[in-house]
Amino acid sequence: MVARVIPVDPFDLVVFGGTGDLSKRKILPGLYLRFLTGQMPPESRIIGAARSEMTDEAYRKLAAAALEEFVARDKQYKEAMGRFLDRLHYVAIDATGEGGWSQLAGLMRPGVVRAFYFSVAPALFGDLAERLHAHGIADQDSRIVVEKPFGRDLASARALNAVLAAHFEEHQIYRIDHYLGKETVQNLMAVRFANVLFEPLWNAHYVDHVQITVAETVGVGGRGAYYDKSGAMRDMVQNHMMQLLCLIAMEPPYKFDPNAVRDEKLKVIRALQPVAAEDIVRGQYRGKPGSEEGGKAEPSYLEDVGDAQSRTESYIALKAQVANWRWQGVPFYLRTGKKLRARTSEIAIVFKEAPHSIFGEEEGWKENVLAIRLQPNEGMNLRVMIKEPGPGGMRLTDVPLDMSFADALGEEGTDIPDAYERLIMDVIRGNQTLFMRGDEVEAAWAWTDPIIEGWEARGDRPRGYDPGSSGPEDALMLLHRDGRRWREIRG
Ligand code: BG6
Repeated sequence: MVARVIPVDPFDLVVFGGTGDLSKRKILPGLYLRFLTGQMPPESRIIGAARSEMTDEAYRKLAAAALEEFVARDKQYKEAMGRFLDRLHYVAIDATGEGGWSQLAGLMRPGVVRAFYFSVAPALFGDLAERLHAHGIADQDSRIVVEKPFGRDLASARALNAVLAAHFEEHQIYRIDHYLGKETVQNLMAVRFANVLFEPLWNAHYVDHVQITVAETVGVGGRGAYYDKSGAMRDMVQNHMMQLLCLIAMEPPYKFDPNAVRDEKLKVIRALQPVAAEDIVRGQYRGKPGSEEGGKAEPSYLEDVGDAQSRTESYIALKAQVANWRWQGVPFYLRTGKKLRARTSEIAIVFKEAPHSIFGEEEGWKENVLAIRLQPNEGMNLRVMIKEPGPGGMRLTDVPLDMSFADALGEEGTDIPDAYERLIMDVIRGNQTLFMRGDEVEAAWAWTDPIIEGWEARGDRPRGYDPGSSGPEDALMLLHRDGRRWREIRG
């Protein structure tokens, strides 16, 4: 199967923070890969903007080095890279002063889509938005793209929304949550709303509980300073995991339209109940001494962030409840953490027993589970019960109905574009479906804030867990207590 590529309209994309880490790792490589497929029209341009003085030539060199480092070797075509780099320009800009703005204004062309990527600290959003207007660079149709973290609580998120709203309409603001750009995350909507099979079962009558796991093997490494002010709740749950939960729990939108989809997600967030202290387990990874067999020593979380007193969590598990008719009494167990056994993101819908079961555990009965693997090895797996072959009475065994996208779709199933590639093209297309609306972000913080305030007021300390484990022991109890069990964390 060959992926269909529909070119977007020609554009001028200005990347503020154009020399920064995100530009090098994601934005420039993502654009190059879209250029390669023909989706980015050759007459489009990317204008890097940052504080330091630099010529176009020097910026192209910086971008070339980034492509060599972050684009897969088998996609590095010299000639195409050269043509792509020719589309790059650079302007030295002073975000808080007047330097560079008239030059930028002079560079912008009429008649092409204008987009501005704010890959800078949120404290600069207001300055940038204001100057884009003052210098007549942004027009009614221009788009701005902002990254997470979008605030660190409700008050700061509201303030950021207000700063942006002073100069841009909501339909011009693209708040990135890169999880929404992941192929399988979007597939959640396709699976739910393009098949009649699942919908009748997708409710409290048939679903026992839902498990959402995002496990990482990496520690906080060089990001300690940022991470320690954030923690797993702010870094992962308030945004990425919340989005996953919404896509699972939302009602079918009346059409596949950005606001119709986001209206339904917002209702889910608003229906989330406060989380009791006993329904939260936080953890911090321990260190590991080196072994005589040559095993390398690994620093603990506290060593990674350089603060022996830190109470920030590198792991969190919690039990969330969506208070509406569809999900009454169905727990959503969420867990995410660093330095765990394997890198895996998975959503598991665990179904109830049949209303009248003629088989029991002695026959080997187990519940049906629909597991959606987001990464790695994107795919779906449905556990169904069958009869164990052979004589000797009725014994049941479970088999997976397993679909890996790679097997099912061939090259297209493995050659999945990075989230940023898709999201940037959606900005140019003017499609906000995969971006968070201001009210969604605020509602997510409104749910998150009291949870964090609760543990801060109680002075809770995170529990230690070993690197390479499944997290703190107490997290097991969160489900055992309810007569349930976490699925194994497997890569
Ligand atoms: C980021 C978080 O938003 O998502 C990181 O800040 C985390 O801490 C990352 O590692 C995970 O993204 P992915 O795409 O690797 O699952």
